[in-house]
Amino acid sequence: MSKSLQAIRGMNDILPEQTPLWRYFESTVAGLLDNYGYRQIRMPIVEFTELFKRSIGEVTDIVEKEMYTFADRNGDSLTLRPEGTAACVRAVLEHGITGGGQVQKLWYIGPMFRHERPQKGRYRQFHQIGVEVFNLDGPDIDAELIALTWRLWGQLGIRDAVKLELNSLGTSEARGRYRDALVSYLNERIELLDEDSKRRLTSNPLRILDTKVQQTQALLIDAPKLADYLDEESRLHFDGLKARLDAAGIPYVINPKLVRGLDYYSKTVFEWVTDKLGAQGTVCAGGRYDGLVEQMGGKPTTGVGFAMGIERLILMLETLEQIPESIARQVDVYLCAFGEQAELAGLTLTERLRDALPNLRLQVNAGAGSFKSQFKKADKSGALYALILGDDELAQQVVGFKPLRGQGEQQNIAWDALAEHLATCVVQG
Ligand code: HAM
Repeated sequence: MSKSLQAIRGMNDILPEQTPLWRYFESTVAGLLDNYGYRQIRMPIVEFTELFKRSIGEVTDIVEKEMYTFADRNGDSLTLRPEGTAACVRAVLEHGITGGGQVQKLWYIGPMFRHERPQKGRYRQFHQIGVEVFNLDGPDIDAELIALTWRLWGQLGIRDAVKLELNSLGTSEARGRYRDALVSYLNERIELLDEDSKRRLTSNPLRILDTKVQQTQALLIDAPKLADYLDEESRLHFDGLKARLDAAGIPYVINPKLVRGLDYYSKTVFEWVTDKLGAQGTVCAGGRYDGLVEQMGGKPTTGVGFAMGIERLILMLETLEQIPESIARQVDVYLCAFGEQAELAGLTLTERLRDALPNLRLQVNAGAGSFKSQFKKADKSGALYALILGDDELAQQVVGFKPLRGQGEQQNIAWDALAEHLATCVVQG
């Protein structure tokens, strides 16, 4: 196939074999968020470029080199969203739903776009489920967000494979004081800094803390510590969060180098990381952004949230073989009908069955075919049972009920009794 007719590098099709696992994952998260009282919001995929520049930060990797930006037909600069927080803040502001201190507990799901170097767990179109909470400023809600994700890992069977890293960035004033101290420490040793860090020293010095360059890491050992510059309010907030996590029995480690790659954070930041996925080990990340709404032109409104990478969590489920058996089977019952009369009767019968058993996964053979070919298809479908309708069954008003996975002998069941029979052996069985 010519290259221009292939999918774009880093943007993947999710094939029918994979979608059951995606749907299981998505419905598990959605169910959990319902239980905690979060409501879904849906934002457009494209926004004005300015929105992301103003919120994520001009000198972040995302804004500097990863955005899919293009001119609209009228010349406006638009960008495919690289994340969801900015658009969510834009939406709540635009619709006034956080005004007057109104609390909003929101979540969203959908594709995000970043022009990164694709590798396992890192794509150019990827999917997030994100949560954002507005107008709750205490550590209790930070703890709830973490408890919710902790419960999710439990439900998915991956709890033992993830670790929570936590830090507090303090208020923007405290961070400003720390930034000055860090810059002056590093300026005195500037000849030892790598090129990237030199550049960041003037643009975004805190990002130097999570450098991968060993020599710079060594330099940072004796550098001023963010924790020593925390303001009293942020310290109390962080202590409150830690106390709640302790009380809930949620383990965590403090990572003083955790600064996150987006500029809008203040106070709490956290990441759930795993060593099961290689280099792309962060499966869920977030934090507080108490200044962002105001920075974007709204009244002071606190915010806190996180987003999880669906591809990475799907990879985790596959790697740890935590794929529930129920999702492997897409079909409960497969109807084989032989001859036109049987097909007609089969349609009436199966529609009645669908009325009686709305959850029954019933596939009707299409395209006719011999006994052999229809049974082959029934077997391949993964169904537990085949229903057989031929001339004999039609004359007796029965169907042949044939277990396909070795659960007993074939028997005839009267049409009128079929729904009840299936209810016992398939829907509840
Ligand atoms: P983020 O750390 O940029 O934060 O992304 C959150 C998660 O999305 C990551 O931990 C990862 O699982 C996934 N992710 C990011 N980039 C990629 C990629 N290229 N390929 C696959 N997965 C990826 C945010 O986006 C913030 N908006 C989170 C947030 C919400 N903070 C507060 N509220």
